[in-house]
Amino acid sequence: MSFTPITPLVACTVVLMMVSALITVPASAQHKDAGAGKSLYKVVDGTKVDSNTMNGFRAWRSAACDRCHGANQQGLVGPSLIESMKTLSKEEFVKVVTEGRLDKGMPSFKTSPTVMEHTDDLYAYLKGRSNGDITQARVEELKQ
Ligand code: HEC
Repeated sequence: MSFTPITPLVACTVVLMMVSALITVPASAQHKDAGAGKSLYKVVDGTKVDSNTMNGFRAWRSAACDRCHGANQQGLVGPSLIESMKTLSKEEFVKVVTEGRLDKGMPSFKTSPTVMEHTDDLYAYLKGRSNGDITQARVEELKQ
């Protein structure tokens, strides 16, 4: 009977391969839209996001929501959206952004195409921030 013993060199290579596989797999998070079965957003390493979520961030920046909700969505004159998005439904979100709450200081964005064309993306971006999957306000686009 003959067999080939695993040489220390082979064993070493296998261990190295396993370690490097662990190191190179980036931390990635996907969040499913309830029922829809499609990902609400994709985040890698806390700051790299899919193109829709990236558009949400762009809409956030261009509408300057941060003037009132804070640069990190933490709240300023408007409430913390990190907190609000934990309980706000998608429908409520779209309604408040579209109609505003004029008596309470939240403007209507009905006439802003940047916001109106990207309410889904804005929702995804802010949910990612609120869930803690997006770890800082500034994100960059994930290279596919
Ligand atoms: C001029 C200040 C201002 C700007 C700009 C602004 N908001 Fe607001 N927002 C507010 C205030 C104040 C409230 C709280 C209204 C209330 O008391 O119900 C609010 C409420 C909200 C809520 C509801 C929070 C909750 O808990 O019910 C959402 C969602 C929201 N804003 C999103 C946005 C987004 C997205 C933008 C940018 C497109 C934006 N806001 C821009 C002032 C602002």
